[in-house]
Amino acid sequence: MPENQRKLLVTSALPYANGPIHIGHLVEYLQTDIWVRFQRSVGNKCTYVCASDAHGTPVMLRARDEGIEPEKIVERYREEHQRDFAAFHIGFDNYHSTHSDENRELVEDIYAKLVENDLVETRTIKQAFDEEAGMFLPDRFLRGTCPVCGAEDQYGDNCESCGATYSTSELKDRKSILSDTTPVERDSEHLFFRLGQFTDILQEWTHSGTLDDAISKKLDEWFDAGLQDWDISRDAPYFGFRIPGTEDKYFYVWLDAPVGYLASFLNLCERRDDLDFDEYFAADSTAELYHFIGKDIVYFHTLFWPAVLEGAGYRKPTKVFAHGFLTVNGQKMSKSRGTFVSAANWLDHLDPECLRYYYAGKLSPGIEDIDLNLDDFIAKSNSDLVGKLVNIASRCAGFIVRGYEGKLDAKLERPELYTRFVDSGEKIATHYERREYSRAMRLIMQLADQANQYIDERKPWVLAKDDATAAEVQAVCTQGLNLFRILMIYLTPVLPAMAEKAAVFLNADVSDWHSRSDALLGTQINKFEPLMTRVDPASVEKMIETSKAPEGGDQNDDGYISIDDFLKIDMRVAKVMSAETVEGADKLLRVTLDDGDGERSVLAGIKSAYAPDDLVGRFVVVVANLKPRKMKFGTSEGMILAAGDNDKDIFLLSPDDGATAGMRVR
Ligand code: MSP
Ligand code: ZN
Repeated sequence: MPENQRKLLVTSALPYANGPIHIGHLVEYLQTDIWVRFQRSVGNKCTYVCASDAHGTPVMLRARDEGIEPEKIVERYREEHQRDFAAFHIGFDNYHSTHSDENRELVEDIYAKLVENDLVETRTIKQAFDEEAGMFLPDRFLRGTCPVCGAEDQYGDNCESCGATYSTSELKDRKSILSDTTPVERDSEHLFFRLGQFTDILQEWTHSGTLDDAISKKLDEWFDAGLQDWDISRDAPYFGFRIPGTEDKYFYVWLDAPVGYLASFLNLCERRDDLDFDEYFAADSTAELYHFIGKDIVYFHTLFWPAVLEGAGYRKPTKVFAHGFLTVNGQKMSKSRGTFVSAANWLDHLDPECLRYYYAGKLSPGIEDIDLNLDDFIAKSNSDLVGKLVNIASRCAGFIVRGYEGKLDAKLERPELYTRFVDSGEKIATHYERREYSRAMRLIMQLADQANQYIDERKPWVLAKDDATAAEVQAVCTQGLNLFRILMIYLTPVLPAMAEKAAVFLNADVSDWHSRSDALLGTQINKFEPLMTRVDPASVEKMIETSKAPEGGDQNDDGYISIDDFLKIDMRVAKVMSAETVEGADKLLRVTLDDGDGERSVLAGIKSAYAPDDLVGRFVVVVANLKPRKMKFGTSEGMILAAGDNDKDIFLLSPDDGATAGMRVR
């Protein structure tokens, strides 16, 4: 291993394990993967880790709804995410989980150090409490007006409009999303990390080349406003790690999530002899640490995170790279327009490498949003990748394989053209290093144009027809294939699968940036296999159509459902055969119904308005084809319809006398 070899540890943000990966996420994972592959190609030791972000309220509530353990949901998505990432050739060295032993140990250890260093303080705060739901409300269960910019309908903990984070008590016009009521304030003891103490250190760190300009400007605004201490605890119920020394307090997900970077790396170190955790994370480490993130989570990564690391005696990140958000055809991704495309759906219809190339062509180091224009995507894939790049190889390979038994000429016909290609590598490398991928792609395609021009001028297909010039064909095609090889070396970070195929047919490695100066001369190549096929516009259309298919309901953005949607609902008159209270449930009754076809058991939230005995013998209206739902208290096979705005005034819908069980409601 060379002595001056740089050691890099690179991360992408840890995706939440409660939904599928979509093409928006992929902006980040592809941007990171391209950088990592580039670093490896130039000879740096570059390790890339990620993990599932397991904890927090959304997973917990989803698990409750489905009646399963949250761990199950996390594992399901962790597997699905890993499969999708692999299919897009995202080459993590490790993909771990924040719900892991390593993470628990690290978080507890970090917390202990923060406490020891007097950086944690207990305060009694007023916490939003939903009286109807009977629980303290996690941040994400409050919506309201942003206290900083005034944007309406924002999350309880951060604003999507201006990026500010705040405590839920600062949010204005708060409503519980569980009951749509205004929560009351109740006292609760919380633990605060003294972020304010790090103001000087953070100001220095954020202005020492760790961040791009646009981000440090944003941070200056936050510094001007003054850094608030950070609430790192949450009340039960919460899916996370319980805070040692407390009964019912949990670490806030955003405390343990970035620690997941360390946990994933630690887990990797356990099975890799060449990696040493302390070498990368000791306060005086000379290894480089890079976080790729989206612009929405800058605050967490550039203020909280470096302060926590500093406070616990670890090194801080070398750089934090933030990117913008994906738009499709100039607009926010949208389910109704079919542009909310999951990774899996993309893979069903299109080549993952075309997306890698397209994003590379759009990416720059800034936080501007990047647009996937689908027409442009089709045009670029077909003209650049198939028309320019692959074309060079396909026009030259056949002649060598058929005419010269696959043997390349012993010398280059245009050494100066070859050298020009080699020299361009310096600039292209700089662009990659600086995440100026769009510039790198432009340069590479200019070279591809030059290679095609050369072949167009020399016309091997014409030379081959004339005995006087046939001897030149090998020289021309050798030159062409050597230019192609350099282009493939430059594109390996972006097109790893195509690069592998190219390496097989060229019978030569294309993954080492430095190897480009040695031309392939007098060596044997293999039969050419098509490297990529054209993007069919019909496939793009099909993908968009498939994305439109709703997962949960048929609701479009305009708020209407169609008559077909309505007719899908099987509503019937049913007779209550028996009803009983449910142990441990404040609001539920278990009701056995006869719907004309037989009996079914439904859990209905009507206990506050009806006593079980009053119900027996009554006719009610039931949704009969609702998918049975496993809930905490058992399975519910349908839903009883009732009117009412809150829990107290509930009115069952009953048909007039004469209706019988099994009648369709229309
Ligand atoms: N779990 C947190 C990150 C914790 S890191 C310690 C999270 N997860 S996420 O699944 O919501 O997002 C993962 C990454 O994908 C984030 O960096 C986010 O910015 C990025 N993106 C999510 N949607 C995106 C777009 N539509 N466009 C571009 N990037 C997007 O945040
Ligand atoms: Zn705001």
